[in-house]
Amino acid sequence: MGLCYQESLEHFLTVFKKSGEMSEYASEFIPGSYSRRSFNYGPHAIYVDRAEGAYVYTIDGKRLLDFNNNFTVSVLGYQNKQVDQAIIDTMKKGFSIGNPTEEEVELAKMLCERIDSFEKVKFFCSASEACVGALRIARAYTGKRKAAKMEGGYHGFLDDFSFSAHPDASKAGNDLENITPIPESAGIPENRAEDVVLLTQNNIEVCEKLLRKYADELACVVMELQSGSGGIVTLDIDFVKRIRELTKELGILLIFDETIMIRAYKGGFQSRYGIKPDLTISGKTIGGGIPLGVVGGSAEVMDIVAKDIVQMSGTHHGHRLACAAGIATLKQLDDAAYERLNSMGERIKEELNGWAEKRKLPFVLFGESSVLGYAFTKEPGQTIRTHRDYWNKSDGEKMQTYALEIAARGFLPVHRGQLGLTLPMTDEDIANFIETTKEIVTEIYQ
Ligand SMILES: Cc1ncc(COP(=O)(O)O)c(C=O)c1O
Repeated sequence: MGLCYQESLEHFLTVFKKSGEMSEYASEFIPGSYSRRSFNYGPHAIYVDRAEGAYVYTIDGKRLLDFNNNFTVSVLGYQNKQVDQAIIDTMKKGFSIGNPTEEEVELAKMLCERIDSFEKVKFFCSASEACVGALRIARAYTGKRKAAKMEGGYHGFLDDFSFSAHPDASKAGNDLENITPIPESAGIPENRAEDVVLLTQNNIEVCEKLLRKYADELACVVMELQSGSGGIVTLDIDFVKRIRELTKELGILLIFDETIMIRAYKGGFQSRYGIKPDLTISGKTIGGGIPLGVVGGSAEVMDIVAKDIVQMSGTHHGHRLACAAGIATLKQLDDAAYERLNSMGERIKEELNGWAEKRKLPFVLFGESSVLGYAFTKEPGQTIRTHRDYWNKSDGEKMQTYALEIAARGFLPVHRGQLGLTLPMTDEDIANFIETTKEIVTEIYQ
C-alpha cells in the first residue's frame, strides 16, 4: 500500500508539533488561531520564527524552502538588502504623513513605463481594495452595473467579487450558460449575486453567448490570465484575444487582475500575450512585501478618478513605505531576473512531467512563468484547463497527502497545489525539490 493521508498527517503533526501547540494557544485570542484563513495547512498553521533568502525557519526548528513566498509576493526572497535599506531610509524621513510623497510618484511612473496598458495609476492598500476600486471605476465609466468574472477566478475577499472563486461543485449546477453564483462566505448579502455573471475559463462559445446576452448591463469583465487562488488555470491566448474583441464591440471594460501574474514579466503577463485591457488590478509584488494595491489603465478611463466623479480615498492609500519597498523591488526585477525565475519554472515542469509521463503516473505540473500548479489527476495524461477540471479530474486526498508530506520533508508549497519561485532559490534547491517530489509521488502510487 502506498503512502496515505493518515500516515502523512501523523508525520506532519510530529514535525510541526510546536506549531500545533502554538495554534491551540493562539485560538484563545484569534478565531481559528490565525488571521490568514487561506493558510489552511492541514490541521493547523506552521508558525514561522524568521525568514531569510529562499527559506523560512519555523518555530519547530525546521527550515523550509518557501514555494509559498507569501502567496507569490516575496519574489526576491526575504531580507533582500536593497528592499530592507529602502524601508529603513524611508522610515528615517518619517512616514504615515497626510501628504503625498515622491515615492508614490516614482512608483507610479515606473509602473506606467513597464506596463503598456498603464497611462495612469491609483494606489490602494491591498489588491482586494483595488478590485472594488476598479469595479467602481468601470461602473461609473460605463453607467452599467453588472460584472462578469470567471468561475474559479479570485478577486479579493470583498463582497462584490466574492462569488464562486472556490465554489461547492454540488451547488454550482451543470448549465455553463447559467452557473449559479455561490457566495464565498456567510455574511455576503444574497442580492449581490444579481450583479455577477459567471463565465467559464477557456470556453469562448459560452462566454460569447453570455457577453452578448448581458451586454447592456455589463460594466466589465474581470479575469486573471492565469488564476491562482481558485487553482492554477492559464487562459489560452486565442480565448483572451476574442474576449478583448468582444468587450470592445459590446462597450464592456476589460479588466485583467494581475495581482499575482504581474511577477511573470516586466510588462506583466499581459505583455506576453500582447493584449491591452482597459484596466489592470495588481498588488502583492509591487509593494515589495508591504501592503499595496493598484489600478492602472488608460488616462481616459482613469481620469474619472481625478475629476472626483469617482470617490476613492483611504488613509493609507499609496503608503510611503510600500511605495519605497516597491521601487526597490522593481529595480531588481530586470530582464535577467525574469529569465532566471521563469527558467526555474520550465525546469520543474519539464523534469517532473517527463518523469511522470514515462512512468504513466497521474501527476502533472502546469502553469506559466514563476507560478506553477500541480495536480494528482484521476488518470494519467489528464490536464487542467478550467476550474471544473479540479472537481472532475483531481484527487483531493492525494493533493493533501503530498502537501503534508513535502512540508514535513522541508518544502512549503501552497497546499492547494501552487508553487511560487523566488530569485534566491538555487539550482541545488530546485534539484532537491524535484527529487523529493519524485520520492513522494512514487511512495503514494506504490
Ligand atoms: C488575483 C488576485 N486578486 C486579488 C487578490 C486580493 O489580494 P489581497 O489579498 O492582497 O487583498 C488576490 C490575493 O490572493 C489575488 O490572487
